[in-house]
Amino acid sequence: FLSWLFLNVLLCCFIFNLFVCVDGNLSFASYYGDHMVLQKSPDRAVLWGFGPESEQVTVFLSGPVTQKTLVTVTGGIWRVTLDPVDAGGPYNVTASSWSSTATLTDVLFGDVWLCGGQSNMYFKMSQIFNASEELALSAKYPHVRPFMVALNRSEIELPDLIQVELPWFEPTATVLAEFSAVCWLFGRYMYDNLNYPIGLVESCWGGTPVEAWSSTRALQKCGLEKTEDSHIEKNSVMWNSMIHPLLNMTIKGAIWYQGEANAVYHQDNYNCSFPAMIDDWRMAFHLGSGGQTALDFPFGFVQLSTYQKHSTDDGFPNIRWHQTADTGFVPNPRMKKTFMAVALDLPDGTSPYGTIHPRDKQDVAYRLTLGARAVVDNERDVPFLGPFPSQILSTQMYVYITYDQTISVTPSKNIFEICCSGIWAPCGPGSLWFPAPIIQWGPNTIQLSTALCQVSEVAAVRYAWKDWPCDFKACPVYGDSGILPAPPFIINRFFTWPTTS
Ligand SMILES: *[C@@H]1O[C@H](CO)[C@@H](O)[C@H](O)[C@H]1NC(C)=O
Ligand SMILES: *[C@@H]1O[C@H](CO)[C@@H](O)[C@H](O)[C@H]1NC(C)=O
Ligand SMILES: *[C@@H]1O[C@H](CO)[C@@H](O)[C@H](O)[C@H]1NC(C)=O
Ligand SMILES: *[C@@H]1O[C@H](CO)[C@@H](O)[C@H](O)[C@H]1NC(C)=O
Ligand SMILES: *[C@@H]1O[C@H](CO)[C@@H](O)[C@H](O)[C@H]1NC(C)=O
Ligand SMILES: *[C@@H]1O[C@H](CO)[C@@H](O)[C@H](O)[C@H]1NC(C)=O
Repeated sequence: FLSWLFLNVLLCCFIFNLFVCVDGNLSFASYYGDHMVLQKSPDRAVLWGFGPESEQVTVFLSGPVTQKTLVTVTGGIWRVTLDPVDAGGPYNVTASSWSSTATLTDVLFGDVWLCGGQSNMYFKMSQIFNASEELALSAKYPHVRPFMVALNRSEIELPDLIQVELPWFEPTATVLAEFSAVCWLFGRYMYDNLNYPIGLVESCWGGTPVEAWSSTRALQKCGLEKTEDSHIEKNSVMWNSMIHPLLNMTIKGAIWYQGEANAVYHQDNYNCSFPAMIDDWRMAFHLGSGGQTALDFPFGFVQLSTYQKHSTDDGFPNIRWHQTADTGFVPNPRMKKTFMAVALDLPDGTSPYGTIHPRDKQDVAYRLTLGARAVVDNERDVPFLGPFPSQILSTQMYVYITYDQTISVTPSKNIFEICCSGIWAPCGPGSLWFPAPIIQWGPNTIQLSTALCQVSEVAAVRYAWKDWPCDFKACPVYGDSGILPAPPFIINRFFTWPTTS
């Protein structure tokens, strides 16, 4: 043993420099660990790590199937792409060179989802309604495995995470209490439906604007690369340290809950910055994984919930609209393969964490799951979109809205508003809006009174254009089942008025 060690050190110091010799043990990158989930077939999981320069590494997968791959350390890094592995496990993964070995145990194959955003994604399991009941259920989901990235900033793009907050774990109530509620519940509901392992990577930070999570490349698309404000996180600092290191892992998709910070920061640019970030993440994960993560991977997000009751500030309505690239619904031509959970009907006026942090994350996650099933798994019969207008007609006295599906209506005097104008210019948030009471409705139509618009014509209609438009699950328009709320919209007659279904 002594002579082997001597040989080892000797070779190490003769062939390589001393630095490599001291710091040269084989290891996996920070986010590969025991109990982890790797992306299942048909995609191929990527594994990488560090090692002594030029040593040959053998990566061995053992479990229901076995695989063996050889690779050489170059630039201090080794990397392999496994052959596709079907959902299941457990597996062990061993990387060994002649001088050292690194092992991952209890590894499962399934779908890996990245969970990003600001405080409503960070919002912990211990903080939601029915937290103890929800946490007690964790033991029933040993194959839903969370992992959490630590909160770190960097001015430059990093190859690996600075720190891991929670290494991959088999859920227990104690540890799960610290994990993102939306992320966990989404994973749990996906598992209920798919019945194979789900890996959840939480990488989010409270109060952060979309710019902090965007690369310079993405910011350039929107002319934002040079603008910074000392009151808010700097451009790209979380992208650099909390997203860029993950690019080499193969993932299934991402979910995102963010936008509150941008209601007061570059609000007008969010219709560009958010879709640009999605495009950029997709391109970067695709390249980083050597083409394994789909170039159009599914991206789901939560449309902003509520902040201040009775507020007339239209920051939240504007961001909700910008979250859809100003179309009102997703997926749409600008935001393909995206899905959205509408949450404006889930306010929480007594949240001890502030009204900006509603405690009902179950409905948010459930609505995301419906979108994921429809968009990702092509379950075409899963309803996931709330009702949206397919036609709007106006007369002197009324506006008739036809929806794209059967609706369930509660009368309201002011949830719909109209903008009256004789001129050929779009009405925006700054225009003068009047309430348009619901007069009557049919299975998929609503008739509004335009009584307040007598001297000129109705030029635009908007719905639920308020920070806090209704009480809990009590918005005026839902889909047939009463579960999916109609998303808010602002539609101009001369520009975007829909005329056919
Ligand atoms: C490398 O591994 C050996 C044996 O496990 C250990 O004693 C040594 O501290 C490790 N070196 C580094 C730099 O981690
Ligand atoms: C993985 O390693 C553990 C501990 O070394 C061992 O008990 C287990 O049997 C191994 N499992 C597989 C699938 O190789
Ligand atoms: C990284 O984040 C952790 C946890 O938030 C913190 O303790 C640590 O100091 C940070 N490290 C750096 C280098 O910022
Ligand atoms: C984004 O919204 C702003 C403000 O409402 C508008 O001026 C701009 O034209 C929109 N840009 C895009 C790309 O839709
Ligand atoms: C990870 O992906 C980034 C971005 O594509 C790339 O620059 C880097 O070399 C990759 N790292 C490894 C270990 O493959
Ligand atoms: C909390 O539990 C109660 C009683 O089971 C249930 O009625 C309620 O819907 C739950 N709340 C959430 C947000 O899931």
